[in-house]
Amino acid sequence: MKILGLLCYCRAGYEQNLAQELEHATAAQGIFGYASVKLNTGAVYFQFYTPDELAHCEQKVRFVDLMFARQLVFVFAHLPQLNRTDRLTDFAEVLQGDEFGTFTSAVVEHADTEDGKTLAKFCRKFAVPLRQMLRAKGVLQNKTVKAKNSQQNIVGKCMHTFFVEGDHAYLGVSVPSNRSRFENGIYRLKFPPDAPSRSTLKLEEAIRYFLSPDEQQTLLAEHTTAVDLGACPGGWTYQLVQRKMQVEAVDNGAMDERLMATGLVDYFAADGFKYTPQYGKVNWLVCDMIEQPDKVANLMTHWLVNGLCEHTIFNLKLPMKQRFTAMQEALTHIEAKLQEQQMHYRIAAKHLYHNRDEVTVCIVTESM
Ligand SMILES: C[S@@+](CC[C@H](N)C(=O)[O-])C[C@H]1O[C@@H](n2cnc3c(N)ncnc32)[C@H](O)[C@@H]1O
Repeated sequence: MKILGLLCYCRAGYEQNLAQELEHATAAQGIFGYASVKLNTGAVYFQFYTPDELAHCEQKVRFVDLMFARQLVFVFAHLPQLNRTDRLTDFAEVLQGDEFGTFTSAVVEHADTEDGKTLAKFCRKFAVPLRQMLRAKGVLQNKTVKAKNSQQNIVGKCMHTFFVEGDHAYLGVSVPSNRSRFENGIYRLKFPPDAPSRSTLKLEEAIRYFLSPDEQQTLLAEHTTAVDLGACPGGWTYQLVQRKMQVEAVDNGAMDERLMATGLVDYFAADGFKYTPQYGKVNWLVCDMIEQPDKVANLMTHWLVNGLCEHTIFNLKLPMKQRFTAMQEALTHIEAKLQEQQMHYRIAAKHLYHNRDEVTVCIVTESM
């Protein structure tokens, strides 16, 4: 299948950062093109100078490496002037020929913006006749496939239709293990009513995004230990306590009383930059202090290389401008220090759906 470019979704206002990241990631792989950036559109299209085969570009551009992307779609058609009275005929024309094979699933999406929200109802309705047409043409599998234990529609080789407006759409494909599993790239989570702050969803999403289900079981098992820096009122500690972990919560503010009553939390009114674990090395260091990203990155590195913690999840608060550059500098610095110590580690960073102006980083180390 010939791919014309990449379409990535992002938080509104982050288009410039995503475009910079896409240009950097593609150039590093010898793929050249240019990004079209329109502020507050919630998406960036990076058009290749020369169309490329799906199998080729899919191996080179990886969703996990794109911090600011909520979704990664390989675009095979750009339709900027659809006939509003008969869009399906325009779509059918594009899907002539046998190069598309059979899609396992098909979704109709929109940006996570105010304009996008007005398209949401239309997208839901349009998905029904679109799927019928795709099935009739033999490009969509007959049976609706849902992922196990979930309502998600993105399964197998998925065809994405992304509407910018009612008469402007991109058609593309995403492939398993190189995308978000969620429609519109949005990982919706239900706020637990007994959690002390909405921040709890940031750590919950991070845990589910960065760790496999097996890792969640083993690395965050009952009785494992953690330090939570900048813990108050306790949204992140809540996630750890839910997993029956022992937590040292560090902050000058007040912790939620119900969390303290669990007996799993020790509270320390201390400066997170000076704190050291009270009972020896912990399994996890988590940190949500709002501080300069380089200061937090240095602190996390210090804990890892000095054996104060095994793994870490933390937020880096982004500056107003040059967010991509600031993130790159922080990550490069962390990796240089870990490599100096010959540590075996995995690092990943993502601007998660529940984040605002911060990127979450996860570092999991392996003992040799
Ligand atoms: C965004 S809030 C944390 C919210 C928390 N993760 C939750 O889920 O409820 C940031 C916290 O970091 C704390 N903080 C900022 N600088 C700190 C420092 N140097 N030492 C300890 N706590 C700090 C603040 O007091 C504030 O409670």
